[in-house]
Amino acid sequence: MMNEAMDQTGGSAVEAVAASQNGRSVVVTSGLAKRFGSGDAAVEALQGVDVAVERGRLTAIMGPSGSGKSTLMHIMAGLDEPTDGTVAIDGIEITTLKEKALTRLRRDKIGFIFQSFNLLPMLNARDNIVLPLTIAGKSVDEQWLDNLVDTVGLGDRLTHRPSELSGGQQQRVAIARALVTQPAVLFADEPTGNLDSRRGQEVLELLRQSVDRLGQTIIMVTHDAHAASIADRVLFLKDGQIVYDHGAMAMDDIYDVLRALEGFCPADGAEFLMDLCATVGDAAQEAAAGDGNGSHASSSEREVETQ
Ligand SMILES: Nc1ncnc2c1ncn2[C@@H]1O[C@H](COP(=O)(O)OP(=O)(O)O)[C@@H](O)[C@H]1O
Ligand SMILES: [Mg+2]
Repeated sequence: MMNEAMDQTGGSAVEAVAASQNGRSVVVTSGLAKRFGSGDAAVEALQGVDVAVERGRLTAIMGPSGSGKSTLMHIMAGLDEPTDGTVAIDGIEITTLKEKALTRLRRDKIGFIFQSFNLLPMLNARDNIVLPLTIAGKSVDEQWLDNLVDTVGLGDRLTHRPSELSGGQQQRVAIARALVTQPAVLFADEPTGNLDSRRGQEVLELLRQSVDRLGQTIIMVTHDAHAASIADRVLFLKDGQIVYDHGAMAMDDIYDVLRALEGFCPADGAEFLMDLCATVGDAAQEAAAGDGNGSHASSSEREVETQ
């Protein structure tokens, strides 16, 4: 049901720009390219990424190791510059911003959750959570904070220091800290990477709740198919291009797509998978011929059945 809406923004650069203009998209990239190094040592980490990320949704970015996930996230978050192309956050084109304005935009509009929690050991949980506001000289919206603390389930732990909290509780503090400024978009890089499966599950539920209860927009990079299965949309990268883009997916379908992207295509399988295998093969040939342009497997993505 949700997939029809997804498909409308999963396509071309033109669609991406149109989506941003009508306000549904928080992050819009157009023709994004990133080259590391030069000459023979050059690596084309991103090769024409056009994507519009919708507001109030959880979008997962998946793909094999080295496919460009971290590069894409860093550029979307204004932490790195593209070689070519543009990124707009909340309607503001960030790729041309000067350092000071970019720093302010990151502070005002972007939240981060990293694999390592980066909490300050001498501050208790509450002071860690409100730290971004303290740094920005802003007052704490107590009602929002209550709502947040309630959502992340830290009510009785606010006066504890990080050393007195479990790994899962520390990650919840880090999540609350990322949400406290009500950022336009929250980026999470492998948010469950350092947690055991039970704590990881709690974090995933929390991210889901912050979308459903607080209306937060989240972009999550993960190589964990289970983590990606909580997303409203899953983008798959391969060789710096989005090769598959679909609404909410079941974990088994995500595994199948990942395996297909790594070249393990079944002799016989679901129609969407066979289409994808054919498309990925074609894309590889196009790229070899020098005219690959980030095709989106758009015919096959409409045929996937998800429950
Ligand atoms: N700072 C860098 N210098 C040179 N090459 C890089 C750098 N960062 C990433 N790369 C290369 O760019 C490609 C994409 O990397 P990355 O975005 O980290 O992939 P992923 O996060 O999907 O594993 C890889 O080939 C990687 O080796
Ligand atoms: Mg990475």
